Amino acid sequence: MSAIADITARIAARDAHVAVIGLGYVGLPLALAAHKCGFRVTGFDTDPAKITTLAAGTSYINYIDTAAISELAASPRFRGTSTVSDLGAADIIVICVPTPLDRHREPDMRHVVDTSHSVASILAPGRLVVLESTTWPGTTDELVRPILESNGLVSGEDFLLAYSPERDDPGNTIHHLGTVPKIVGGNQDLARAAAAAFYESFIPAGTVVVPDTKTAEAVKLTENIFRSVNIALVNELKVVFDAMDISIWDVIEAASTKPFGYMPFWPGPGLGGHCIPIDPFYLAWKAREFGVPTRFIELAGEINTSMPHHIVSRLASEVDRRFRRGLNGAAILIVGMAYKKNVDDSRESPGLTLMALLESRGAAVSFFDPFIGTIPATRAHAGLAGRKSLAWTEVTNGVHDAALIVTDHDGINYDALVASVPLVVDTRNATRDVRHHRERIVLA
Ligand SMILES: NC(=O)c1ccc[n+]([C@@H]2O[C@H](COP(=O)([O-])OP(=O)(O)OC[C@H]3O[C@@H](n4cnc5c(N)ncnc54)[C@H](O)[C@@H]3O)[C@@H](O)[C@H]2O)c1
Repeated sequence: MSAIADITARIAARDAHVAVIGLGYVGLPLALAAHKCGFRVTGFDTDPAKITTLAAGTSYINYIDTAAISELAASPRFRGTSTVSDLGAADIIVICVPTPLDRHREPDMRHVVDTSHSVASILAPGRLVVLESTTWPGTTDELVRPILESNGLVSGEDFLLAYSPERDDPGNTIHHLGTVPKIVGGNQDLARAAAAAFYESFIPAGTVVVPDTKTAEAVKLTENIFRSVNIALVNELKVVFDAMDISIWDVIEAASTKPFGYMPFWPGPGLGGHCIPIDPFYLAWKAREFGVPTRFIELAGEINTSMPHHIVSRLASEVDRRFRRGLNGAAILIVGMAYKKNVDDSRESPGLTLMALLESRGAAVSFFDPFIGTIPATRAHAGLAGRKSLAWTEVTNGVHDAALIVTDHDGINYDALVASVPLVVDTRNATRDVRHHRERIVLA
């Protein structure tokens, strides 16, 4: 049996050694799942703090159980490392590194390129390499393959190359890695078959195999663009209906009772997270190469990025109307700094943008978030790094002029919040069940 044909048999026998590169929100659950089903797993990350934390058996992602991490750390079939040469024995190498935008809002492929060079340095015949990072259609074949082949091996002949996007919804308690079918694309039959066999060994929902890597890359972008455009639509409708004194939340709840032809999306203070605010621009960038416009993507981006400005002007006019004062000097509490409910991730969070906008208007801004104790360093909001969440007792001590609900975490006592702050601007309808002081609440 040739080395590359042998990989499928080794997957079936759980005899393959898997390396996961990038142990973040995508890579860590993947490493856990591959290990659980019997593979030997090497987890690689350039961040040594992650490797040390894993070795101590501790989870650094709030919804990943520490018990599962301690079991992984104690297993003789798992090793965490920051040393590239430790990947040399891996049969299957899965790349889950970040794909952000640069400061010109264009794809920043640094992590994918660096990782591809690392993989090329240890690549041997018979290996399967899978890219999972979200990216523009063509990346696996046009960017990753030439770097891997620079070591003299040929894709499809000496090693196999596939693309399989992660379709995770962080914090979703119903859908997770095992329940969502995995999209798999490869440019040769054997690459598609080996990658599908690998994922089917630990994903009960199975795989959806598409003809090539660029189709698989396009599937992922299509899913996220669909979300971005629909969120922009309801954000626009929110502003329109608000002017007519109609609650967008009542409208969407009622519209959602239609059993066909409608799917609810909810408005908010702006997009956040690693995916929806970023991924559409990967396609917009690539489309420019073909001279094709991406008007929906640009328009959705424009509407969604205008939302924090809309919220600040809404808050300012309520403060003005109710208290006869401006935002300058007002004590404003932001509730929720994570980009979505019940997660400890503040990447691209609208809370950061809102904090910066309010401070630029002279407001004294503090925040409360049970999941984000300290604001991490970010390129866009470097000045906010290190700011700490208030304790709950400081939320309810009556010193704030207004609270702005940015993230609707469960477990926050919204009754107590509304009782202790004279104005609550709620961008998520988190106060829907609050019965007292309703006059203090403004949905925005
Ligand atoms: N988080 C999500 O919900 C989600 C969902 C679907 C797809 N994705 C995509 O998956 C990819 C990874 O996202 P994530 O959320 O897991 O990111 P993350 O930042 O949580 O994790 C990435 C990890 O890669 C490490 N890393 C960076 N450069 C590296 C390198 N050169 N070599 C090895 N490790 C390196 C970082 O230290 C980090 O631990 C991105 O392309 C993202 O768009 C993310």
